[in-house]
Amino acid sequence: MIVCVCKSVSDRKIRAAIADGIDTFDELQFELGVAMCCGKCEESVHDVMAQSGVCASRCGVTERERPQAAPMTFYERRAA
Ligand code: FES
Repeated sequence: MIVCVCKSVSDRKIRAAIADGIDTFDELQFELGVAMCCGKCEESVHDVMAQSGVCASRCGVTERERPQAAPMTFYERRAA
């Protein structure tokens, strides 16, 4: 199902990005461009994130476990 019409981003694409390590809305915006045009898809993107268990900021679902000693962003992990 298309979640972001403006950027043609599906829920499958969002889930794949999450599986690749993206775990914040900002990272999804940067990587996929969701909610960057009209913004109407923002709630739906958060819903997909919540269903995937990675949205801590707006939906109350706790973030996936990260190593506490060295928290890294998606981009730091990708560069490593
Ligand atoms: S539908 Fe996603 S920015 Fe317009």
